[in-house]
Amino acid sequence: MAWPNDAGRGLSPGSRLPGMTRKKDVLQPSLWTPRPVEETISVYAAWADTYDAEVQARGYRTPARLAAALADHAPLDAKILDFGCGTGIGGAALRKAGFTQMDGTDVTVEMLEIATKTGLYGKTWHSTPGALSFAKGDYDVIVAVGVISLGAAPPDTLAPLVAKFATGGLLALSYNGPTLEDDSYADALGAEVSTGHVEVIFREHGPHLEDVGMGSDVIILRRR
Ligand SMILES: C[S@@+](CC[C@H](N)C(=O)[O-])C[C@H]1O[C@@H](n2cnc3c(N)ncnc32)[C@H](O)[C@@H]1O
Repeated sequence: MAWPNDAGRGLSPGSRLPGMTRKKDVLQPSLWTPRPVEETISVYAAWADTYDAEVQARGYRTPARLAAALADHAPLDAKILDFGCGTGIGGAALRKAGFTQMDGTDVTVEMLEIATKTGLYGKTWHSTPGALSFAKGDYDVIVAVGVISLGAAPPDTLAPLVAKFATGGLLALSYNGPTLEDDSYADALGAEVSTGHVEVIFREHGPHLEDVGMGSDVIILRRR
């Protein structure tokens, strides 16, 4: 099945489900567009209370796909950082896949508070955009589900994350449809691969927001 990259650009954060919003309505038109970080944080702060219900109702598949792929490449006791954990949907998928050690961080307090309450994470902390407040080698795996993305973290987030790994560390991330179409994200990934910092050990396209026909690539990079 094909998962087009151009569908679903208009999901509307804050719209009410069920009933008031048709599943095929897109989130808000400007959701997957570049914006200043302060605006990104405002968008997610305002969306936090309804985020889980809205994305789940639209068939948010990437977290489970990423967790399943990671389970084929990392031991279940790997120390994992869920970077841009949001409300904890990625952590829940990792736990369901069998992973046991997860910490979480996010730049949006309102999203992070919900993730913290899930009890899925050993620890959570509020991160400052562009600053990574952990040491190289602290984590065996970093996951970034829907985070290094148009409308969320910029493409230059990728290289500093890669630099935080010891040899063999894994970065498992996703690029959704609009992000795949934006050269700056493809270029950031290409630069890490071509400089030899990482190798791509897994890449697969599949459903992202299934009910709006948006796809994503799940990508796993291994630090050389
Ligand atoms: C689409 S949500 C994904 C959340 C979660 N990973 C999930 O799959 O549900 C994007 C998240 O990235 C966070 N984010 C945006 N810019 C960021 C940055 N520069 N560093 C870390 N997190 C960021 C937002 O606060 C938001 O929680």
